[in-house]
Parts: sequence; structure tokens; C-alpha cells
Amino acid sequence: MSESAIIIRDVSKSYNGFVALNSVSFTVKSGEVYVVLGPNGAGKSTLFNIIAGVMKPSSGSVNVLGGNPLDPSTRLKISYLPPTPPLYPWLTVMENIDFYASLYGFNKNTVRQEAAGLLETLGIRNLSNKLTSKLSTGQSKLASIVLALVAKSELLILDEPTTGLDPGMRKSIIDLLRKQVSNKTTILMATHLIDEAEELANRVAIMDRGRMIAEGSVEELKKLHAPSAVLVIKPSKEHLEKASNVLRERWSRAYRINDEVRLHTEDPDENMPKAILMLSENGIRISSVSVDKPTLEDVFLKLTGRRLME
Ligand SMILES: Nc1ncnc2c1ncn2[C@@H]1O[C@H](COP(=O)(O)OP(=O)(O)O)[C@@H](O)[C@H]1O
Ligand SMILES: [Mg+2]
Repeated sequence: MSESAIIIRDVSKSYNGFVALNSVSFTVKSGEVYVVLGPNGAGKSTLFNIIAGVMKPSSGSVNVLGGNPLDPSTRLKISYLPPTPPLYPWLTVMENIDFYASLYGFNKNTVRQEAAGLLETLGIRNLSNKLTSKLSTGQSKLASIVLALVAKSELLILDEPTTGLDPGMRKSIIDLLRKQVSNKTTILMATHLIDEAEELANRVAIMDRGRMIAEGSVEELKKLHAPSAVLVIKPSKEHLEKASNVLRERWSRAYRINDEVRLHTEDPDENMPKAILMLSENGIRISSVSVDKPTLEDVFLKLTGRRLME
């Protein structure tokens, strides 16, 4: 096994002149969980399609497991799970699995046994003989994850594997993926969920508008691009807009998120009383103030001035 599972250099992709990926470069080491985090439209799925060999880049070089993912011999070593479950609706869950096993040339019984174990772990063993057209969105997603895992590929490419799942299902998948890591599988995963990136990733790449804007471990990203602390100020509802304007006059890094203002600061002890004073001088009522540790959302806010999830 080589040191690097994926080497991407200056990869760009345009759709009829629209630049969806703009000179993206990165390397994924063998055995690591590399999470690509970015809002909708950032270019994650385009990038993953290229790495999985489903789409050609407009320019740049792509090396996956030492080869070109457009070559069938390389593709056979990759399990790629697209965002929409790739299940044949007229087959049952197990028949879908049989079909994939035959494509990969695997022994049907071994794969069935493996799949049964995975279905059991995910709590959907009872669905083995159900037509996939009759599954709920969440159940289809779980079944497609089993499909991706039974191939036991060196490289798992998962595009938003937990999107649309309830918290319980999400947790089962995260736990299952953790187990894969101990089996030395390399995982490339796309998500727009901050928690997921923080929970699973060895390294995170943050994408926005077709570019990779930061890369590193969660700690490194926070150290480089996040403040020491975040003052979370919750004004009374009718004063939200005014509070955020008042705070922004004094602190350029004050961001309004839902019904609160997140104020990035290096010195929360000094700035908390100042912020409270300023708000009360402007007749703004405050429901609560607290100090938070920064998250990857704060990293994204600092880098782009925008929220990750709109
Ligand atoms: N087949 C396509 N034709 C035209 N535009 C596309 C196509 N696929 C994606 N796009 C556009 O490229 C951008 C990146 O999309 P995508 O790679 O799906 O991002 P993400 O997965 O991060 O949401 C978006 O603006 C999207 O509308
Ligand atoms: Mg996508």
C-alpha cells in the first residue's frame, strides 16, 4: 500500500463555462479519514465524481490508489457512495447486494454473511428481503451504506452519507465508519455537517465556491483560523437586528446566527462586560450571554464572513 491514497493536483471542472471546481489540490494519506466540509454548491460532489472516476476533470491530475480512476482496474478498488442511494428498486436489499457482489466478482455467500452482519449492526436486518422501492429515505441510505461496505475496498468515497437521516441512524453510521478506520480503510467523506467533521476526521478540507480554502486537523484549523473564544449573546427577539448592528460597530467579527450573535474575541473576560454595557446603553434587552469554544462553523465564518449552513 502506498503512502498516499489520493493525490489531486490543480483539478478544475467547468459546466458550460461555470467553474464548479477551481484548481483544487490535496493529498489523502492511506488509512486516514479525510472529510471535505462545505456548504451546498461548494463543489464537493463534483470533486467526488472526479475522484471516483465517474466524471473527467476539465484540467488537472488525479491519482487514486496509484492509478487513474477512469481505468476499470482502479475503479474496482474503490467503493463510491453517491448522495442518492444507488439501489435497483425492483430488487430486494439482499438482491442488490448479490448484484454488487457479482460485479466485483466476490463470493456470494461470503458477501451475504458480511452484509447480514452489517444490516444487523444498523438495525435493519429485517429489511433484507424487502424491495428497495418500499424503503423509507433513511432505510435506503442505510442499505446503500451496507452496499458500499461489503466490497471491503481499500478506499471508501462517501458523499453526504448521513444526510436525511435521523440522529439515531446517523450515530449508527458514524460508529460503523469508526470501525472501518480500525480496519485501515481510507475514507474520503463529504459533509455539510460540522459535528460530523469534528467527530470523524483526521483531517478536514474546507471548500467554498469551488475552492479549497483551508485544510488541516480540526485542532490545526481552529488554531489557525478561529478565535480563542466566542461570546454568544442572545438579545430579546425584537432587538436582534439592532443588537447585531450595534455590536458590529465595535467588533468587526460579530456574526448574527439564528437568534443570537456570535462575537469572536481573543479576550472574552474583557469584552463580555463591554458588550453588555454597550447593548444596555442602546436600550437592548439581553436574554443570555455565554462563552463558547469555537467550532468549525467559526472557522468558516472567519474565513468567508458567511455561515456554513444557510
Ligand atoms: N451537471 C451540472 N451541470 C451544471 N452545473 C452543475 C452540475 N453539477 C453541479 N453543478 C453546479 O456546480 C456547483 C457545485 O455543485 P456540487 O459539486 O454538486 O456541490 P456540492 O456537492 O458541494 O453541493 C453548483 O453551483 C452546482 O449547481
Ligand atoms: Mg453534493
